[in-house]
Amino acid sequence: MSNPLDDPKADPFEIAKQAAAVIAEKSGVAKHDIAMTLGSGWAKSADLIGETIATIDAADVPGFNRSEVVGHVSTIRSILLPSGKHALVLGARTHFYEGHGVRRVVHGVRTAAAAGCEIMILTNGAGGIKTSWAPGTPVLISDHINFTSASPIEGANFVDLTDLYSLRLRDIARSVDSSLDEGVYMQFRGPHYETPAEVQMAKAIGAHIVGMSTALEAIAARQSGLEVLGLSLSTNLAAGISDSPLSHKEVLEAGKEAEPRISALLAQIITKL
Ligand code: HPA
Repeated sequence: MSNPLDDPKADPFEIAKQAAAVIAEKSGVAKHDIAMTLGSGWAKSADLIGETIATIDAADVPGFNRSEVVGHVSTIRSILLPSGKHALVLGARTHFYEGHGVRRVVHGVRTAAAAGCEIMILTNGAGGIKTSWAPGTPVLISDHINFTSASPIEGANFVDLTDLYSLRLRDIARSVDSSLDEGVYMQFRGPHYETPAEVQMAKAIGAHIVGMSTALEAIAARQSGLEVLGLSLSTNLAAGISDSPLSHKEVLEAGKEAEPRISALLAQIITKL
């Protein structure tokens, strides 16, 4: 599928502006306030947070493509929250493992910033390293290890990531559910799951959750000045932490099972933002 972001001479921020203009036109909402990408298990929260104003096919928005991953959606939704704020739900997330380059991976985040958003909520399904995180446990992301060897930032632009995952937003999340644990998310390239040895390495260098998204998007969000809230759903214990082998089907099933509970949690958090 052709995509203007694949032209190396194109300016990804210009394409994000064009995308934001199309979203504004199709939704009739000139400025959005909060954006979110809903990973495995989190999608239902879009139905709980407010009134859907517009559902836009991602293929109609510059720089976006339909998702290639079974179980992932391909729409961009504009939702009016009870507070009067406008939320943008970005389906059609492109993962780094799809091999289309980092520009496409972070296009949703850049579009959110161009659409006026100040807060970016990044969610995912991931493997838990702490044995107490049984499948179905939501975890706040406190920091990340980017193990992709890639960056969304082009050129000599030295962006500070010291407090990338906003303490303010984590505190708001904990005010909704004081039992929420937090941990360091490590993004691997995938799409294969990690080996048990890689999970042990992740643990040894300080990671608590392993997955295939989020870190690159969080970096781009910070570059664009967005405040970031990261939430993982532990859909499984990471490879070797439990004896069971991993399967995408089981990851999706664990997500489905936890979905009503964690979507309600996220919806409650959003009412406080
Ligand atoms: N590893 C990487 N990504 C994942 C996992 C995992 O164990 N579970 C869900 N997404």
